[in-house]
Amino acid sequence: MRPTTGQSSGGAGPRGDAEARICRDIYRVRRRRGTGTGRAAIAASIAVLLASAALPFTLVAQEPEPEPEPEPDSVPFARRVGTMSDLMVQIIYPASDAIFYITTRTPTSSSEWTALEGTTLMLAESANLLMMPSRARGREQWMEDAKLLLEVGEAAFWAAKEQDVAALEALNDQLYRSCVQCHRNFRTGYGRRR
Ligand code: HEC
Repeated sequence: MRPTTGQSSGGAGPRGDAEARICRDIYRVRRRRGTGTGRAAIAASIAVLLASAALPFTLVAQEPEPEPEPEPDSVPFARRVGTMSDLMVQIIYPASDAIFYITTRTPTSSSEWTALEGTTLMLAESANLLMMPSRARGREQWMEDAKLLLEVGEAAFWAAKEQDVAALEALNDQLYRSCVQCHRNFRTGYGRRR
């Protein structure tokens, strides 16, 4: 499973591409933490051996790291620009409002619908930004939580393309859950802490 960049054709479709990306990132997390078993662990070890020149740390036996530091982004040239708080406040929070308030802020012209398409696309893609190795905090739970946002954002994008207000409204609960689940798990001082 050699990650390639920019591949988007080949019949997998947008969902397939998204799944591939998640798998790839989860695989990286496993490889870094060394928690794989059986064939996965062997494959991970081989990958680590091959990549050892590029890795600052090699696997420490099977010891899980409780609080791993974010790793630098392994995609050449990719790097974080905003902090986690910036992403939330500047992008994810306002973009999600466009869906939460769809019934009172319904687009009334084709240009407003186009703008909403862009907003929902941004929301969906922001989940991928959360999955960047330097943001993912090395935890599979994080990837699972970000995937919820990816899925609901993607659904909202397609609903916006269809100008389907009812479908967007129906996504509200799912969207809300995607925020709350990650915040419960990872946002300091939010509900119960991990
Ligand atoms: C995969 C994890 C994840 C998801 C999904 C997520 N968040 Fe967050 N969010 C965080 C973390 C972590 C913080 C704490 C950031 C900090 O303070 O550094 C945070 C903080 C915030 C904040 C406060 C930021 C500040 O500095 O005041 C807002 C607002 C927010 N999120 C909105 C949302 C909304 C709205 C959604 C859903 C549409 C969402 N988040 C989904 C992880 C997530």
